[in-house]
Amino acid sequence: MITIVGSLKGGSGKSTLTFNLGVWLSMAGVKVQLIDADPQATLTDVIDVRKEEGFDPVLKAYDKRALAPEQLKAADETLIDVGTSDMESLRTALSRCDRVVVPVPPSQADIWSTQRFIQLIASVERESPPDIIGFINRGDTHHGVRETNEAAAALVSLPGIRFIKPRLSQRTVFRRSFSEGLAVFELESRGKAAREFLGLAATLYPHLVS
Ligand SMILES: Nc1ncnc2c1ncn2[C@@H]1O[C@H](COP(=O)(O)OP(=O)(O)OP(=O)(O)O)[C@@H](O)[C@H]1O
Ligand SMILES: [Mg+2]
Repeated sequence: MITIVGSLKGGSGKSTLTFNLGVWLSMAGVKVQLIDADPQATLTDVIDVRKEEGFDPVLKAYDKRALAPEQLKAADETLIDVGTSDMESLRTALSRCDRVVVPVPPSQADIWSTQRFIQLIASVERESPPDIIGFINRGDTHHGVRETNEAAAALVSLPGIRFIKPRLSQRTVFRRSFSEGLAVFELESRGKAAREFLGLAATLYPHLVS
C-alpha cells in the first residue's frame, strides 16, 4: 500500500507521523520504504540522526525520484512525506497513492485548509479517488478545552474525508524523541503519547495487529 502523509498546512505533524509509522512498521517486520518528497527534508534529517546514533531498526529515506511507479511498488508499505513547496511532487504522489492520511491540528484554520486539500486531491486526475483519512494531531490534553472536540466534530462532517477517532495530543515527547532520532514509543514506551500513537497505528494498519 502506498500512503501519503500530507496536508497543506505547515507544522501539522506530517514528518513526525511518517517517521514514527516508519519505525513501527519496520519493527513489525514489514518491508517499508520511506520517501521524503519535501524539499525541507525533515524526514531525511531525522533518519540521518537515527543512523548516527546507531538505533535499530535502521531506516532509509528515498528522495522524490522514488516516486517513479516501479519504485513505489518495491515495498509492501510505502510512506510518503510531502510538503507543499514542491507541488509537482505532491501531485505526482497524489496521482499514484492508495490513500492520504491527513494530520489536522484542532483549529478552524486547519479545518479550512483540510477542505482545500480535499479539493486539491480531487483535482488530480486518476481512475478512482484515493481514500482520504483525517485525524486530530496536537490535540489539547485538557478536557476543558473545547477546540479539540469541535475540530473533531467539524472533521467528522467534512465531505470527502474519513475521520478516524484515535488522536494524538500535543505532547513534548513527540518533539524530544524526534530530535533524538527515536519514535515516541521507543523513548517513552509506557507514556501517553506512545499509547496514543499505537492506537493510531493500529487503526491505520489493522491487518498488522489482528
Ligand atoms: N502531537 C504532537 N505533540 C507535540 N508536538 C508535535 C506533535 N506533532 C508534531 N509536533 C511537533 O510540531 C512540529 C512540526 O511537526 P512536523 O515537522 O512533523 O510537521 P510537518 O507537517 O511535517 O511540518 P512541515 O509542513 O514544516 O513539513 C515539530 O516540532 C514536531 O515535533
Ligand atoms: Mg515535514
